Amino acid sequence: LAQSAPFKIGLILPMTGQQATTGRQIEAAARLWIAQNGDTVAGRKVQLIVKDDTSVPDVTRRVAQELIVNEKVDVLAGFGITPSALAVAPMATQSKTPLVVMAAATSSITEASPYVVRTSFTLPQAAVAMADWAPKNGIKTVVTLVTDYGPGLDAEKFFKSRFEFNGGKVPETLRVPLRNPDFAPFLQKVRDIKPDALFVFVPSGAGAAVMKQFGERGMDKAGIKLIGTGDVTDDDQLNDMGDVALGVVTSHHYSAYHPSPANKKFVAEFQKANKGLRPNFMAVGGYDGMRVIYEALKKTGGKGGGDALLAGMKGQIFESPRGPVFIDAQTRDVVHNIYLRKVEKKDGQLHNVEFDVLKDVKDPGKTK
Ligand code: DHB
Repeated sequence: LAQSAPFKIGLILPMTGQQATTGRQIEAAARLWIAQNGDTVAGRKVQLIVKDDTSVPDVTRRVAQELIVNEKVDVLAGFGITPSALAVAPMATQSKTPLVVMAAATSSITEASPYVVRTSFTLPQAAVAMADWAPKNGIKTVVTLVTDYGPGLDAEKFFKSRFEFNGGKVPETLRVPLRNPDFAPFLQKVRDIKPDALFVFVPSGAGAAVMKQFGERGMDKAGIKLIGTGDVTDDDQLNDMGDVALGVVTSHHYSAYHPSPANKKFVAEFQKANKGLRPNFMAVGGYDGMRVIYEALKKTGGKGGGDALLAGMKGQIFESPRGPVFIDAQTRDVVHNIYLRKVEKKDGQLHNVEFDVLKDVKDPGKTK
């Protein structure tokens, strides 16, 4: 039998720099998937090639170029932040290489190339859910505070328009820079306005700093609630945030505390393989992305090929640690449950405890 070339997955992640926790989580999840499912699919050996893009889009582009031209990868995957995913989308189209977005969450990314498939989430999915929950729970005025780039602008826009549609008021919208943000002056402004709640989106890894300064300024004691998408109570950091995080309500697609057997197994095996590290929503995006790639490769009988793989990715339905997942064949975007969660202490640890669910939520950014 002729020895066929390995099936190469080029996993581009921020392994260093401000977004390094995203890279660490996704790499660990991808390696767990392979440990659990083997490194041979339909007779084809799978090779994972991990590259650090430091979350600088020019580096992402250069690394992707090397992976496509020199390594001849079959799939590109990863992408810790929106600008990295957008930087590579035209190269995916040109080379007909499926691009599996495991982290970045700006709605429009799937429209940047017909070769993009997303297993992370979208900010509009999470933000709209919070904009419906808040006014039913005594929150009438909200100031928004978001990181000033794609996902933050999506969060702000979809939260504000839905919250106002529901009769709420948004007296101020604040934006902080992505690189080296200082939240203090913004939080002072929020204190002065004194809304019922502050709605926050910051990318994974920045939540602990927001929470700390929110507490230090006594905002919670001043009667301002903290709400947001689940990025701010990121499971990677949550347990070290302290009591200021208790009671914070967020909307998101994944909690490590999700009480399904599939998730309990995922969390236990992830922690066992990673010195107790708790998986976050980035890990689950990476884990599910690997499943989508494996299943697509199976459907091609191990042959692969960009268009055949892409066809095999579209329309997949499976049970993820987050709950049921569907890859919408039309949009190539993820459809999943959005949960309302409250931070509580369980067995001495802080967790995002789910108390309500919106089922099978499509990206509201696509239904214009
Ligand atoms: C993005 C990055 C994050 O860390 C996150 O939590 C959500 C979105 C992004 O850049 O798209």
